[in-house]
Amino acid sequence: MDNRPIGIFDSGIGGLTVLKAIREKLPYEDIIYLGDTARVPYGNKSKDTIIRFSTDNSLFLLSLDVKAIVVACNTASALALDYLEKYFNVPLLGVITPGADKAVNITTSGKIGVIGTKATIKSKSYQKAILSRRPDALVYNKSCPLFVPLVEERLTKGIILDEIVQMYLKGFKKEKIDTLILGCTHYPILKTAISSYLDNIKIVDSGCEVANSLKVLLNERKIAFKNKRKSKTVFYVTDDPKGFCISAEDFFGEKINKPYKIDI
Ligand code: DGL
Repeated sequence: MDNRPIGIFDSGIGGLTVLKAIREKLPYEDIIYLGDTARVPYGNKSKDTIIRFSTDNSLFLLSLDVKAIVVACNTASALALDYLEKYFNVPLLGVITPGADKAVNITTSGKIGVIGTKATIKSKSYQKAILSRRPDALVYNKSCPLFVPLVEERLTKGIILDEIVQMYLKGFKKEKIDTLILGCTHYPILKTAISSYLDNIKIVDSGCEVANSLKVLLNERKIAFKNKRKSKTVFYVTDDPKGFCISAEDFFGEKINKPYKIDI
């Protein structure tokens, strides 16, 4: 048993959707969450930059003696996880594999849609993970770069959102996918609009799936904290902590402890 905290990082606030799922699944684990709010968004940056930012974030979390790192950001998971795994000797988990596993398990037709940031879609990480598990799957990818700013501007319902949902997702209707992976931390916030446009399809939230995989990983490595206790979540951000607190409460309906501001 290991009572050290789990480290989670994201490019900003979106990773709180992943944190929420992890806290529900693993309520007794202490957690350190780092949101790189000064450098968000990652989704339109180059691979080299995303690797550099992800390395900085991991080094910071390791300096706080975390026992494992969850890369909550899909973009960082898609472009930097391989690199981090090569250079860091700590259990690391990204969101791509758990999301792909779930999609392959629940699809009937094998027609799977993937949505994400430009960088995630360009990397084809989800597609590769799906095809390595089910080579006959048909994977349809679509980057949806306006979804992140819409969520950040709280445009999570209404005509503007519906138009943009239709613009991005109409191809999936034509291809008759039966499963859609929400390959970005912000997209679970748009789940209602997405599932009402693409009715009758199964939606995979990679953040929820990573929480299940984390539980398995901690047990396999014998580093889970099993005793009941009141666990702590400590937040760090690289930009304005106050703005982060306000958005966190708006998005997730719960107050968070004020984050510490750090420079990395
Ligand atoms: N967290 C990012 C992701 O899941 C979305 C926001 C960004 O572009 O940094 O891909």
